Amino acid sequence: MKIPQQGSTRDEVFDQLEKFTGHDYDWRTGKCYAYTFDAGDEAEKVAKDAFMRFMSKNALDPTFFPSVLELENRVVAMCAAHLGGDAGTAGTFTSGGTESIILAVKTARDYFRAKRPDITTPEMILPVTAHAAFHKAAHYLDVKVVLADVNPDTFRVEAETVRRLITPSTILLVGSASCYAYGTVDPIPDLGRLALDHGLLLHVDGCIGGFLLPFFKEAGADIPDFDLSVPGVTSISMDLHKYAYAPKGSSVVLHKNADLRRHQIFACATWTGYTIVNTSVQSTKGAGPMAGSWAVLNFIGRDGYEEIARNLWDATARIKEGLEAIPQLRLLGDSDMPLIAFTSDTLNVFHIIDAMNAKGWHIQAQLKYERHSECIHLSVNPSNVEHTDAMLRDLRAVCDQVTAKRGSNLAKAVSTMFGGLNPDRLNDTIFKKMIGMAGMEGVGVPEKMADINDIMNVLPPNLSERLLVEFINRLFDQPKGADDLPAPARAYRPPRGPGADVGSGNGHARDQAPAGVAGAAMAFARNLRDRLVDLGLPLPR
Ligand SMILES: Cc1ncc(COP(=O)(O)O)c(C=O)c1O
Repeated sequence: MKIPQQGSTRDEVFDQLEKFTGHDYDWRTGKCYAYTFDAGDEAEKVAKDAFMRFMSKNALDPTFFPSVLELENRVVAMCAAHLGGDAGTAGTFTSGGTESIILAVKTARDYFRAKRPDITTPEMILPVTAHAAFHKAAHYLDVKVVLADVNPDTFRVEAETVRRLITPSTILLVGSASCYAYGTVDPIPDLGRLALDHGLLLHVDGCIGGFLLPFFKEAGADIPDFDLSVPGVTSISMDLHKYAYAPKGSSVVLHKNADLRRHQIFACATWTGYTIVNTSVQSTKGAGPMAGSWAVLNFIGRDGYEEIARNLWDATARIKEGLEAIPQLRLLGDSDMPLIAFTSDTLNVFHIIDAMNAKGWHIQAQLKYERHSECIHLSVNPSNVEHTDAMLRDLRAVCDQVTAKRGSNLAKAVSTMFGGLNPDRLNDTIFKKMIGMAGMEGVGVPEKMADINDIMNVLPPNLSERLLVEFINRLFDQPKGADDLPAPARAYRPPRGPGADVGSGNGHARDQAPAGVAGAAMAFARNLRDRLVDLGLPLPR
């Protein structure tokens, strides 16, 4: 597939884009309990319009667009105030939870590199419930992960478990507020004391919970303190593109002070181009998410978020109650967030998921890890609230229909054939065979996921990680066939200079030039060019 020779019309382009979405799940139905955070059309439109207005501005050089610097500082200030920050708090706007976490881990690594150069293999201690982004950060930054199991009943890590894992190479402790899988908040004050006693940094992952939990606390929920006001907490991350309903690509990482944040910043003066000094992983950094975040925070406001929080809290309580009343199901932990995990001791949860999804819901599978069983996860959104009873009714009906808890025969066969193998020794042919057996072949994701989930559930983590890499490496299989759009009806004409009229499609107002010396010079050059064209003379290069 090539870039078409001639451009197409705006309508053709958008018609085609619409066609691409033909197989997408319609997340606006209010029946989706994962991946999207939906506070309704109005909030979405505000975020979108603000995003579009700043889409082309760049935060690469914070001195170039003062509006962008101002937006970032204002959004970060609001987040700091929301999370117990003080005058010393120093933060950065990032593209998402993963980037915020990578930056927090880099900060810890470089802080200790400066302070304790004798530590050659830095370690960070993570509860097993900590988000995979920490493993990614460890992978990118060469920091060793030490896993701490959580209490099997509360799904919260205990400070004593973490204390036993501290070594002379430990640099960072991590707690979640809350974790994704079970929605539980770790005992951050206990972890803070531990960090202070051992001279360690402590990052709180508030990516999913940081925004909503303060509203729940204000409403009287019994949630332990978790923010920057807790002694020992040195950084916290919070996503705005989750329960703050900002556009995707919006998160912040906040440090206790600017001395710590210094270790996050990267500068480079050993190349021939423009000056590079970046606070985040990105260099060119779109201002759209910042504008969208600022707009939606101001549009919904604290009153609006409080009301959303109350509705979410009520719906979550009703769902938990409803789940407890379904005899085949068992709740996992008592979540502090509208994030609910439940399993079944008698039914195959992956079949429950497929059956629910066939009824138009979208609920998520969580695979088994060590002694933590496979389960179903719900991220409850404002748009889900009105569907609570219907969802519970369907779930109850589905539980009366699906098959007993048993992995598929296929899963057993795959596990017997491949389970004991070292993934590093497997060749492409074997992976192809495994992917075929798992039903993961072909483009797109199959409708029924139970077989795949059954298989992934029984494979050892190193093999399933490798299988996922192989699967994704095949999924992004670039089309080789015909071009996307038919022969165009109208050719694109690039802008020819200043004063381009964005509102009139490809037509450009050519008579206007900016005022001042630059404008005059441009107008002169343009006139000269037109004269040469009129006279049929070659244009200067
Ligand atoms: C607790 C937690 N941390 C980190 C992340 C990663 O965030 P992102 O997907 O924005 O990178 C998530 C995502 O759900 C999360 O729930």
